[in-house]
Amino acid sequence: MVLVSDAAGGVGSAVLQIARARGIKVIGTAGPANQDYVRSLGATAITYDAGWEERVRRLGPVDAALDLNGAGVIRGLLDLTGDPDKVITIADLEAPMLGIRFAGVGGSMPEALAAAVDLIAQGRLHIPVDRSYALTEAASAHPDSQAEHTRGRRVLLVRT
Ligand SMILES: NC(=O)c1ccc[n+]([C@@H]2O[C@H](COP(=O)([O-])OP(=O)(O)OC[C@H]3O[C@@H](n4cnc5c(N)ncnc54)[C@H](OP(=O)(O)O)[C@@H]3O)[C@@H](O)[C@H]2O)c1
Repeated sequence: MVLVSDAAGGVGSAVLQIARARGIKVIGTAGPANQDYVRSLGATAITYDAGWEERVRRLGPVDAALDLNGAGVIRGLLDLTGDPDKVITIADLEAPMLGIRFAGVGGSMPEALAAAVDLIAQGRLHIPVDRSYALTEAASAHPDSQAEHTRGRRVLLVRT
């Protein structure tokens, strides 16, 4: 079982669907308003408020964890997996101090994109759009994107 923190965001929404397509069982943390949404993407949902670690433990052993939030949960992910090599974050800069890998953009992007396009063509990967903005609204799109409670992506429309 893989634990994903911040499962309802833009990255989390894609991760959950890719995991489902690969037959990987996921537990996703999200706010109360996103529990049904996370379940609709094939994961077991739990809230990230006090006691989240214990709620995860009750669901069974965690084989690996992916932190998409950076809200200080990586120590908990380390406790649950018992091994820094089983945790990856894309959002917590403290990770290297704990021996946990911080993953940035990189790796084999063409292969990853081709796999994503395949899943989209098969109807198994859908990227929800939380809101679209005209280019003239870019100034308001930025603070909105930091509001922290989105579901899917915010899109800036650039017409040529
Ligand atoms: N390293 C890289 O290359 C890379 C690439 C892309 C993104 N990132 C980083 O990865 C993070 C996620 O990006 P994103 O685009 O998916 O963000 P996003 O779409 O803005 O998602 C924000 C999500 O955070 C959730 N959230 C807020 N507080 C939380 C908490 N304490 N625990 C768990 N979830 C919480 C919200 O869900 P609820 O409403 O359910 O609370 C919301 O769905 C950001 O920090 C971003 O900067 C890094």
